[in-house]
This record gives sequence, structure tokens and C-alpha cells, in this order.
Amino acid sequence: MNRTGRELRLKLFAAALCAAAGFIVFALIGPARAIHGSPLETPEASPQAKYSTFSHDVSAHKMDCSKCHNFPSKNWKAVRPADSAFPDITEYPSHASCINCHRQQFFRGARPQICTICHTNPGPRNSTRHPFPNPREVFDASPKGKDAESDFDINFPHSTHVDIVSELRPQAVEFVRAGWTRMRRSEESCKICHQTHMPQGDSDAEYATAPPKDLGDNFWLKKGTFKTSPIGHTTCFTCHSADTGIEPAPTNCAACHAIKQKPPPADFDKELWARVGLRDRSTRDAWSTRYSSGTFRHEFASHAEMDCATCHDVSALKTLDPRSMKVAITSCNNCHITATSDDGGILNFEIDSRKADASFRCVKCHLSFGTQPIPESHIKAVAAMAGN
Ligand code: HEC
Ligand code: HEC
Ligand code: HEC
Ligand code: HEC
Ligand code: HEC
Ligand code: HEC
Ligand code: HEC
Ligand code: HEC
Ligand code: HEC
Repeated sequence: MNRTGRELRLKLFAAALCAAAGFIVFALIGPARAIHGSPLETPEASPQAKYSTFSHDVSAHKMDCSKCHNFPSKNWKAVRPADSAFPDITEYPSHASCINCHRQQFFRGARPQICTICHTNPGPRNSTRHPFPNPREVFDASPKGKDAESDFDINFPHSTHVDIVSELRPQAVEFVRAGWTRMRRSEESCKICHQTHMPQGDSDAEYATAPPKDLGDNFWLKKGTFKTSPIGHTTCFTCHSADTGIEPAPTNCAACHAIKQKPPPADFDKELWARVGLRDRSTRDAWSTRYSSGTFRHEFASHAEMDCATCHDVSALKTLDPRSMKVAITSCNNCHITATSDDGGILNFEIDSRKADASFRCVKCHLSFGTQPIPESHIKAVAAMAGN
């Protein structure tokens, strides 16, 4: 950049500062100095850009994660109780990660929109922030966290882990939590990361929220429908830490986090979700990614008795490929799929009903899939049970 160019920019910058008179003090020393060293790369503010939400899926943001996230955060010891604290990312990126590209957005208006990504009530002297999205236990309970969605999917190769852990030599196991040493292809190991979410247990309250009085035979969400999945680093970082040296290191964010791909259609009903009125992020995340059966309930006695492997083949599971999470309909064999309708199979009944009435909606296992054409897998499953 030539000298006049830079002077002009500096003048514009100064003008912008005056416009934002309220923000005189904050962090100006840093950016003002940085202006000399680094090229100014102010993005054109397209009219569509909403500066109140941050997305990792903007090409300019696809940099090395460490450009914005410094591991570990200064406050990692403060966000968790001392006995369970571990080095982690628990705070927002600093102004320095944004300012070189977003000077314009940082200094526009009396209350620049961009501040609200991190701050609750931004001002020259108010640095109060929303909880950072990690730990989720704290974030999910906050106004910002209640309806938040992640930009990422998790890469967790199940098969590698199940094998690795059962093969670990004793001396290598020292650092591994007791539970992990028992890791096998069995339900015991799965429980470390997947528990029944909001179980009904011994209580009489079957439904997750009070159903409408005129529910009749209609579907309403029951407790114990979903299994949880990890919502943070606690389990992963017991092994993946600087101390153990097991790759990927905790600083290698991108080994475990990958930008979400467009998912296939899920058996999910947004309006029903709103009516159920839970606003629980774990439930929403699980329900909206049900790619086979939106009504299947894990805690239900006959279902809970079965080994996970009856329905989940973890060796074929790729957590970055939602299609691989589908459960095969043949897992419902014998109980819901029988040789003939007279044997009680609900799938047989629903297929027969659809054949008799093209507008018949399949409701036993489905919320939104039930009005679609019958998939070949269903016809085949019934045929196989009938011995055809
Ligand atoms: C340009 C800066 C920037 C870069 C580069 C960046 N992040 Fe972030 N990240 C942020 C900001 C800002 C937030 C807080 C966003 C919010 O709360 O709305 C955030 C939040 C997150 C979150 C929690 C929210 C979510 O979407 O789940 C995860 C996980 C995350 N970052 C992972 C990563 C990973 C992995 C990389 C590298 C592949 C990365 N980040 C690169 C700025 C960045
Ligand atoms: C290397 C330059 C660069 C850095 C660093 C950077 N951004 Fe951006 N950002 C961009 C560009 C380019 C766009 C796209 C502008 C547009 O669409 O108008 C953008 C867009 C955005 C948007 C609008 C998102 C949307 O959906 O359109 C927000 C909000 C944002 N950035 C926040 C941040 C925050 C907060 C940081 C720091 C944690 C940051 N950016 C760091 C270059 C950068
Ligand atoms: C990407 C998240 C993010 C954005 C966007 C952001 N801040 Fe901050 N802000 C922080 C963090 C993190 C700190 C704490 C820095 C520290 O303590 O090291 C901070 C600190 C502050 C402070 C305390 C003084 C200082 O500089 O440490 C003020 C005041 C402040 N921010 C105001 C603002 C205003 C006004 C905006 C919008 C123009 C803004 N911030 C945008 C994350 C952000
Ligand atoms: C160390 C933790 C860990 C263990 C142990 C583990 N998983 Fe997972 N599992 C994950 C993570 C992480 C994901 C990805 C979750 C996500 O995408 O949000 C996942 C995803 C899944 C999914 C797909 C979830 C979905 O969103 O549809 C199934 C099914 C699953 N695991 C079953 C199992 C079974 C069965 C076992 C026991 C053999 C097991 N897992 C053991 C961590 C684990
Ligand atoms: C009778 C079949 C069956 C059994 C047994 C079963 N599941 Fe599932 N599970 C399903 C179905 C169906 C889904 C929905 C998958 C989809 O459509 O994405 C599911 C989904 C999941 C999910 C994603 C979250 C959710 O609830 O949607 C996890 C995690 C999971 N199962 C773990 C387990 C674990 C761990 C076990 C053993 C304790 C287990 N499952 C036993 C059928 C079963
Ligand atoms: C019991 C210890 C242990 C735990 C807990 C653990 N891992 Fe691992 N992980 C390993 C080991 C050992 C390797 C193999 C390292 C190697 O071969 O270099 C590995 C490898 C990986 C890899 C690279 C695998 C590949 O095939 O490239 C990823 C990604 C990963 N782990 C993610 C996770 C995530 C996500 C979690 C938490 C949900 C997790 N791990 C929890 C021990 C563990
Ligand atoms: C060994 C695997 C692994 C590594 C390395 C890792 N993460 Fe994660 N991270 C996870 C898992 C698993 C979760 C919880 C599941 C989820 O986010 O869907 C998680 C959750 C988070 C969350 C909570 C937000 C949310 O949406 O759940 C943030 C923020 C985050 N990671 C940021 C980072 C950053 C930044 C780095 C690099 C400094 C990093 N992670 C490195 C596995 C990893
Ligand atoms: C016993 C439970 C059950 C019943 C009853 C059932 N389904 Fe399914 N359905 C599943 C499972 C499991 C899957 C995921 C495996 C598959 O795609 O075959 C699925 C998948 C689907 C899909 C998605 C297929 C795709 O390409 O992704 C549609 C559409 C569907 N079913 C329609 C129907 C219709 C129409 C009926 C009634 C005639 C019906 N289902 C009855 C369990 C059931
Ligand atoms: C070992 C037998 C067995 C298997 C296998 C089985 N179920 Fe069930 N399921 C039952 C029984 C018994 C009931 C209770 C009677 C009924 O509602 O049909 C039931 C009930 C249900 C219900 C209604 C639950 C409620 O709370 O109202 C759904 C939905 C369901 N099953 C879906 C599935 C799906 C999808 C599969 C395959 C992925 C499956 N089941 C596999 C035995 C089984």
C-alpha cells in the first residue's frame, strides 16, 4: 500500500472512531498499532451479511483454528471445579482475531452488531460476555445457548477406539480412566459416552412434557427416547492430552471437528418439536438427526433389553456421514415385522393399509416419513420374513 493510501485509511479509521464516540477506550491501542504492521483487509459488507451471528462456514474464516482459538484459554481453571478442571478452550477469541478484517464492523454505529456475538451488553466499559459454547453444561442453560446450533460434526472413529482400547498394554493404561480399561464391543463401553437421556426410570411420568388433553392415539415425545452423546472434551481429553501424547493432540481441533455437511432428510417434525416445548438442546440435536425412526424409544423395556449391536453396527458407523447412522429396518424383525399381518407385525399392517388406501400415513415408527412412498427396504424386509 502506498503512503497516501495508508494515510487515507488512517484518516477514515480516525473518522470511524469519532463516529463511535462511545467506544473510545476499548482495545484501541492494540488495533491502532496493528494497523502499521498488517495489510488492511476490510471485507465488503454485503447487505445480506448479518453481523450478529458468527459462522465458521465463511470462506475467509476457514483458517487454522489456532488463529482464533488459543489453547488453553486463560480461564480454564475457573470454569470447572478444581478437581475436574483440565486445559481446554473455554473462552471467546480475542478482538485481535477479528479486528484486522472487521475494523468496519467493530467501529460502526453506537452499538456495533458484531459485539453481540460475544458480549451480552457491549459498551466501552462493559466486557460482560455470554458463556462460551464450551463447557456446554453452562452455555446450554444461557439465553444464547438454548437454541444454538454447532457448525461442526464430530469425527469419532468407533471401530478404531474399541479395538485400540482393548489392546492397550497395561503400562499404557495408567492414564486411562478405570472405565476405559473395560472398553469392549459391549454395552459397558458404549455407556461411557452414551446414556439414556431424560430417563423415565421408575417414575409414572411417561411423557417428556405434558401432552395435550385430546392427544388420543397421536404421538407425543416420551422420556428415555434418546441416547446422549458427548457434549464436550471431558472424555476425549483423558486420552488425547499433552501428557499422554496420544494423537490427535487437543490442539489439533480439526482432527475431531469438521464443518457440517448438508444432512439427508430426517424423520423430524419441527412443528411438533415446538409444541412439545422442551428447548433442550441435546434432545433437539438427537431428534433432528433421526434418519430412520423419529419415534423409536431406547428406554422402552423390550428395546432396552437388546444389545446395542442388534441395531448399531459400530464398525460401519462413520460419524461424519449421517447416512451411516441409519438403523436397518431388519433390526425390527420378529417384533414389528412378521411373516403375515396376522402375526402382529406393525410394518405388515401399515403396508397393507397403504395398499388399501393411498393416503394412509404410517405413524408407528415415523413422524415425517410416514406420508412418503414405501421404501424398497420395507417391502424386502416383509418378503424376507415371509420366506420369499
Ligand atoms: C476467524 C476466527 C475463528 C476461527 C479461524 C475458528 N473459530 Fe471457532 N469460533 C470462533 C468464534 C468467534 C466462536 C464463538 C461463536 C459463537 O459463540 O457464536 C467460535 C466457536 C467455536 C465452537 C463452538 C460453536 C460451534 O459451532 O460448535 C467450536 C466447536 C469451534 N469454534 C471450533 C473451531 C474449529 C475446529 C476451528 C478450526 C477448524 C475453528 N473453530 C476456527 C472463531 C473462530
Ligand atoms: C481474514 C479476515 C477475517 C477474519 C480474521 C475474520 N473475519 Fe469475519 N468475515 C470475513 C469476510 C471476508 C466475511 C464475509 C463478509 C460478507 O459476507 O460481507 C466475514 C463475515 C463475517 C460475519 C458475517 C457472517 C455471515 O454469515 O455473513 C461475521 C459475524 C464475522 N465475519 C465475524 C467475525 C469475528 C467475530 C471474527 C473474529 C473472531 C472474524 N469475523 C474474523 C473476514 C474475516
Ligand atoms: C469474538 C468475540 C468478541 C467480539 C466480537 C468482541 N469482543 Fe470484546 N472482548 C472479548 C474477549 C474474549 C474479551 C476479554 C479479553 C481478555 O480479557 O483478554 C473482551 C474484552 C472487551 C472489553 C474489556 C477491555 C478489553 O479490551 O479487554 C471491552 C470494553 C469489550 N470487549 C468491548 C467490545 C465491543 C464494544 C465490541 C464490539 C465493537 C467487542 N468487544 C467485540 C471478545 C469479543
Ligand atoms: C469415547 C466416547 C464414545 C464411545 C465409548 C462410544 N461412542 Fe458412539 N459416538 C461418540 C461420538 C463423539 C459420536 C458422534 C456424536 C455426534 O455426532 O454428535 C458418536 C455417535 C454414535 C452414534 C450415532 C449417533 C447419531 O447421532 O445418530 C451411535 C449409534 C453410536 N455412537 C453408538 C455407539 C455404540 C453402540 C457404542 C458402544 C459400542 C459407542 N457408540 C461407543 C462417542 C462414543
Ligand atoms: C432395537 C434397536 C436399537 C437398540 C437395541 C439400540 N438402539 Fe440406538 N438407536 C436406534 C434407532 C432406530 C436410532 C435412530 C437412528 C437414526 O435414525 O438416526 C438410534 C439412535 C441412537 C443414538 C443417537 C441418539 C438418538 O437417540 O437418536 C445413539 C447415541 C444410540 N442410538 C446409542 C445406542 C446405544 C449405546 C445402545 C445400547 C445401549 C442402543 N443405541 C441400542 C435403535 C436402537
Ligand atoms: C481410552 C483413550 C481414548 C479416548 C478416551 C479417546 N481416544 Fe481417540 N484415540 C485413542 C488412541 C490410542 C488413538 C490412536 C492414536 C494413534 O494410533 O496414533 C486415537 C485416535 C483418535 C483419532 C484419530 C483416528 C484415526 O483413525 O485417524 C481421532 C479423530 C480420535 N481419536 C477422536 C477421539 C474423540 C472425538 C474422542 C472423544 C469422544 C476420543 N478420541 C477419545 C485413544 C482414545
Ligand atoms: C480428540 C477430539 C477433539 C479435539 C482434538 C478437539 N475437540 Fe472440541 N469437541 C470434541 C467433542 C467430541 C465435542 C462434543 C461434541 C460436539 O461438539 O458435538 C467437542 C466440543 C467442543 C466445543 C463445545 C461446543 C459444541 O458445539 O459442543 C467447543 C467450543 C470445542 N469443542 C472447541 C474445540 C477447539 C477450539 C479445539 C482445538 C483447540 C477442539 N475443540 C479440539 C472433540 C474434540
Ligand atoms: C417398525 C418400524 C417401521 C415402520 C412400521 C415403518 N418404517 Fe419406514 N423406516 C424404518 C426404519 C428403521 C428406516 C431406516 C432404514 C431404511 O431406510 O430402510 C425407515 C426408513 C423410511 C424412509 C426413508 C427411506 C430413505 O430413503 O431414507 C421412508 C420414506 C419410510 N421409512 C417410509 C415408511 C412408510 C411409508 C411406512 C408405512 C408403510 C413405514 N416407513 C413404516 C422403520 C419403519
Ligand atoms: C425384541 C422385539 C422388538 C424389536 C426387535 C423392536 N421392538 Fe419396538 N417394540 C417392541 C414391543 C414389544 C413394543 C410394545 C408393543 C408395541 O407398541 O408394539 C414396541 C414398541 C415400539 C414403539 C412404540 C413405543 C411407545 O412407547 O409407544 C416403537 C416406535 C417401536 N417399537 C419402534 C421400533 C423400531 C423402529 C425397531 C427397529 C429399529 C424396533 N422397535 C425393534 C418390541 C421390539
